[in-house]
Amino acid sequence: MAIGVFDSGVGGLSVHRALVERFPSADLIYLADQAHAPYGGLPGERVVELTRRGCERLFEAGADLVVLGCNTASAIALRRLQQTWLPGFQHARGRPANVLGIIVPTIEAATGLPWTPDPKRLPEKAEALEVLGIFSTAGTARSRVYEIEIDKRRGDIAVFTEPCPELVPLIEGGADRLVLAPIIQGHVEALTRRIGRAPDKAVLGCTHYEIVADLFAAALPPGVQLIHQPRSTADSLERYLTAHPEYDPGSSGQRLFLTTGAPGPQNGIVEAFWGAPLRFDAA
Ligand code: DGL
Repeated sequence: MAIGVFDSGVGGLSVHRALVERFPSADLIYLADQAHAPYGGLPGERVVELTRRGCERLFEAGADLVVLGCNTASAIALRRLQQTWLPGFQHARGRPANVLGIIVPTIEAATGLPWTPDPKRLPEKAEALEVLGIFSTAGTARSRVYEIEIDKRRGDIAVFTEPCPELVPLIEGGADRLVLAPIIQGHVEALTRRIGRAPDKAVLGCTHYEIVADLFAAALPPGVQLIHQPRSTADSLERYLTAHPEYDPGSSGQRLFLTTGAPGPQNGIVEAFWGAPLRFDAA
């Protein structure tokens, strides 16, 4: 079997790369739904439908386990799919199949607590308030998932989310870093103004932003710790695979890159991030 990684576009490559580093011999299939990207501004129902179709395509291509390498899909679609479509799909398939998101591992990293569905809230301690900044798509920001889930667990972490709606189309379109840098700077400044000071920690809560993580790091004041979502996702998947030996990640190191959009080479900033030429095939 293989592990599938799904995103609206190239952002999930940041998660994919962390999985390749962690599981070098695993078989991995990447699917970018570039025909419908960006997801960040789409109505929720549409994100649910597109995410379901993406998962189906990855299962069809040989994956048994799909990681949503997309915050927007994880925030808006995952719970719905787990409650509605997935149980019937698993039953009809007759062999293990599951879909995992990237928000739970990120919240575990941000809170320092293992995930439980009914957490006991650590009480507010005004003198020890930590400020966490999240940069995300408009869809993830609207869901308020990070604010809600972190507040259930840690009363002493204040979460502020900054939507950056123009970034995904620019990164998908291969915009010049000189264009991206001042936009990112503007979002860092907007978040800092809203908080009244710089955050203590930050999450690039849209996987596309990892592709230009150095521009975020340069725009944030020194000392702001970036929580690395792809690494947290790899940590979490490692624990999941240990606890669920029914999922075999494969051992031939196969890599398949599929897109619902135009097949072919990826743009310059993506290849610079990837460190090698990268071509997507038709899904
Ligand atoms: N990479 C997706 C995420 O993490 C981008 C969503 C989009 O297509 O707007 O949210």
